[in-house]
Amino acid sequence: MSSMEHIPVMAGEVVRLLVTDRSGTYLDGTCGLGGHARLILTELSSEGKLICIDRDVEMLEAAKSQLRSFGNRVRFQHCSYDDPGQISALSPSTLAGVLLDLGLCSAQLDDEQRGFSHRFDSPLDMRFDRSGGKTAADYVNTASEQGLVDSLRSFGDFANAKSLAGRIVKRRSSSPLRTVGELVSCVEDLFPHRLRNKLAARFMQSIRIAVNAELDRLDRALPELVSYLTAGGRFAVISYHSHEDRRIKRFFRQSGRASGLPPDIEACMKGMGPALRPVTRRAIKPTDHEVDLNPRARSARLRVAERLV
Ligand SMILES: C[S@@+](CC[C@H](N)C(=O)[O-])C[C@H]1O[C@@H](n2cnc3c(N)ncnc32)[C@H](O)[C@@H]1O
Repeated sequence: MSSMEHIPVMAGEVVRLLVTDRSGTYLDGTCGLGGHARLILTELSSEGKLICIDRDVEMLEAAKSQLRSFGNRVRFQHCSYDDPGQISALSPSTLAGVLLDLGLCSAQLDDEQRGFSHRFDSPLDMRFDRSGGKTAADYVNTASEQGLVDSLRSFGDFANAKSLAGRIVKRRSSSPLRTVGELVSCVEDLFPHRLRNKLAARFMQSIRIAVNAELDRLDRALPELVSYLTAGGRFAVISYHSHEDRRIKRFFRQSGRASGLPPDIEACMKGMGPALRPVTRRAIKPTDHEVDLNPRARSARLRVAERLV
């Protein structure tokens, strides 16, 4: 790993809005390098505990060494946030708070071996969990043309998704794509010159979202994780693009019932899972000052909700 840095985004707001019970147990579902985890642990009393999970073993190992001083108040497990049933000794309705800070860490983006960035001619991997599953090379070489169009349109908002996918299919028919350089070079002349870097980054982001099934995982995780909160427990989610934020907003809104709805509608909704109360009415954005210090925070949006019963 070339660089092991990651500045936690909206750190003050996350801790202030997430931690309401200083002796509770919290889950950091995307521990990364442990930036937010450190701040949460610092805020908790000596009774408070934090469970840190991540799909990326390397991140988890790095976080472990960063957070060693917190002893047995913190524990780590290699796990995906959409599978909390796998977390050892964790039962439903026991967590005082859950944090998801979606996407990837700067350290992963800047790692020349991982294939996340268009800036390095790395092998096409892009998996968060390198212990299994399809790589980006598997994906771009085997996905149907329509599948590629859908990913580029849905995850990257590319109006020219058909042309981009057509280029990939044409290029792979001569020989399989193996590196980031090969992938980007077959599409980059379709990006206007002055926007080339920005669009190449967005193109890589859409391939990454498809490879890691990020939106499907998020859809599964939201109701699942809420069921692990205690009444009064808080759920904080930081997203980095509109497709994620829209899902979180919709989920929080749909779960925000028990709020003066007509009784027949309320009755229909029974069985849909625990109800949530929004803590943030609108998504919180980083300040201009934070974006100046950490440009990667630019697109971040934080939403927080509280479990009612
Ligand atoms: C933005 S970083 C988190 C940074 C962290 N909050 C910090 O302050 O250091 C996102 C992390 O989520 C992890 N991740 C992505 N998808 C995941 C999933 N489905 N389950 C668990 N972790 C995941 C990535 O490996 C990455 O380490």
